[in-house]
Amino acid sequence: MKAPKTVYTCTSCDYQSPKWLGRCPSCGAWNSFEEETYTDTKSSVSASSVVGSGEKAVLFHGLDIPEYMRCSTEISELDRVLGGGLVVGSAILLAGEPGIGKSTLLMQLCGRLGDSSKILYVSGEESSSQLKLRANRLSVDPTKMYVQNEVLLDSILKEYESVKPDIMIIDSIQTLVCSGVSSGPGSVTQVRECANRLIARIKADGTSLIIVGHVNKEGGIAGPKVLEHMVDAVLSFEGERTQAHRIVRAIKNRFGSTNEIGVFEMTGEGLIPVDNPSAALLEGRPEGVSGSCAVCILEGTRPLIAEVQALVTPTSYPSPRRTADGIDYNRMCLILAVIEKRLGLRFSQCDVFLNVVGGLRIDDPAADAAIILALISSMKDIPVPHELIAMGEVGLSGEFRAIPSVHQRISEAKRLGFTNIAVPLGQIKKVSEKGAPRLPDEVSGMRGIYDALRILAQTQKSEEE
Ligand SMILES: Nc1ncnc2c1ncn2[C@@H]1O[C@H](COP(=O)(O)OP(=O)(O)O)[C@@H](O)[C@H]1O
Ligand SMILES: [Mg+2]
Repeated sequence: MKAPKTVYTCTSCDYQSPKWLGRCPSCGAWNSFEEETYTDTKSSVSASSVVGSGEKAVLFHGLDIPEYMRCSTEISELDRVLGGGLVVGSAILLAGEPGIGKSTLLMQLCGRLGDSSKILYVSGEESSSQLKLRANRLSVDPTKMYVQNEVLLDSILKEYESVKPDIMIIDSIQTLVCSGVSSGPGSVTQVRECANRLIARIKADGTSLIIVGHVNKEGGIAGPKVLEHMVDAVLSFEGERTQAHRIVRAIKNRFGSTNEIGVFEMTGEGLIPVDNPSAALLEGRPEGVSGSCAVCILEGTRPLIAEVQALVTPTSYPSPRRTADGIDYNRMCLILAVIEKRLGLRFSQCDVFLNVVGGLRIDDPAADAAIILALISSMKDIPVPHELIAMGEVGLSGEFRAIPSVHQRISEAKRLGFTNIAVPLGQIKKVSEKGAPRLPDEVSGMRGIYDALRILAQTQKSEEE
């Protein structure tokens, strides 16, 4: 037998090194290396991951392709993220922080599909009675569902052979152990090897596989990045555990669009799809209070209206505090610098706290205009008009730049009753030139951040009158 071989693997990018390193030279992550030992090279990753199909080369022209068979999960928001339903024979990774609701969603899925399809639910974390308790709480009782409490991959695959399910659920991949790999459960090699074998097995039969994966503190999927490459779709659970809203986002989808999101509300009876997320996110929006502005962002094909809040207070520290929740920190710094330079407002003497209500994370630059209004509103203590919604990307000279899908955003804003919709001025001109559909009367144009200041000044004036 060969001597055991030790390698150190970066948990965030899978880079391997013969020595432990403090910082990964490939992805720059700190303290991300884990030791792995192979005792038996025959069963190690490279040997088992190669599964030859033995097929001959075929002529591509005129090649027949089978239609993807999709089955609806009967959970509207989940269908939306999956691109219209679960593709039969696909492997899906469901990732999220502990306690966010992964097992809950899967149990609900079993409730919907467990009477028509055979499901094998493998739980390495919870006992069968705990699963039953959850099922009772969620009022589901699938008749064709099997549960197995097991962490050893070989036993799971054996049970898979005898049950022959249509859908297999692994909760979670971090608990599985594969014989022949000496590192502990949850380590890079274990996760990769277990996922590899499972996917190779189910693909051969056309079974659907759903793997639960935990994410680490930084929000990355724990275990190797390679897990994301092996599956057909990666769904990520987002949201604050302390808040009711949960967002399921498709990070990768071989059978549908990415960036689609599904919105759920966590209740005692399980996750309830939210059909009108904009209304839910705007619920309880205060009126007549400074530092709040509505924003319309685009998530995939779906316009969403949320609320941005800012709190600007004089600082008592030599270097002022800045926190951004749901907004990129660097984007906030850039916006603050633009306002300071172009409008001369001294944010450098203020602590700044930014927050997006409802645990939403905004990546859409169209939110810049609303962030600017919320910031200036809080600093000057003038409320943004309640019926106003602002959208536009800010440039470094303080101008508002055009945003995509403006018509879609405007109709969503109108649907929710906003009567003052501010969009970049250039966009209004362009729309009328091209003979495109006329913008509704509620829409007004903003050239740059000076116009944002003017909106607030007018509000203050009309309040005084
Ligand atoms: N009795 C209950 N009533 C309401 N919500 C509950 C109840 N029990 C659990 N939950 C919710 O379910 C969450 C746990 O969900 P779970 O699916 O087990 O998470 P995960 O599998 O992602 O770790 C808890 O954080 C809590 O919000
Ligand atoms: Mg769980």
